[in-house]
Amino acid sequence: MNPVMFSGVTVVDHPLVQHKLTLLRRRETTTADFRRIAREMSLLMAYEVTRNLVLETIIIETPLETMEAPTLAGKKLCFVPILRAGNGILDGMLDLVPSARVGHIGLYRDPGTLVPVEYYLKLPDDLAERLVIVVDPMLATGHSASAAVARLKEVGATQILFVCLLAAPEGLALFIGEHPDVPVFTAAVDRELDEHGYIRPGLGDAGDRLFGTK
Ligand code: URA
Repeated sequence: MNPVMFSGVTVVDHPLVQHKLTLLRRRETTTADFRRIAREMSLLMAYEVTRNLVLETIIIETPLETMEAPTLAGKKLCFVPILRAGNGILDGMLDLVPSARVGHIGLYRDPGTLVPVEYYLKLPDDLAERLVIVVDPMLATGHSASAAVARLKEVGATQILFVCLLAAPEGLALFIGEHPDVPVFTAAVDRELDEHGYIRPGLGDAGDRLFGTK
């Protein structure tokens, strides 16, 4: 992993992650393949994101003897996908951390004001005691990511990470400006955001490609 031009942002440059991102970007990648590759990629992202989890030692019995063995300390993680595209990178993370809790947040952009409006929120009660990992494949304008994180802080989350597959420099700047305390993990930072809010060169609309809605 290499730190990039934004502090607090980690680009996961593992060759498998980079290869899979290229497959996701290709126009000809089918819905079924897109979904499968996004899942594989998010598992690999989760591996990097959880690299610094704290361990504690417990005493266990192997079939042969007693030993002190490392185990994850603290409460289970909580993944929070931002609906709907966030769901497309949730299962890969759950493949790796099956006992994690899952919260959901749904936001839409008010067509008049362009402000993100919450339409769904369901979270575990004890968010303050958990590492909360917010997931959304695309960090484009940064508005939904930032609003989601603000809402999670409001309900008590204190330790938050944000994971995406692709980010735009404009979205990163906005997000980091509003949440300098929240580390961001991405597989790439693309050139720019276009006038329609798409990341360029990008991979298109992640939700539509995941769910075959276009
Ligand atoms: N959301 C997407 O799915 N794709 C983009 O390029 C930007 C936002």
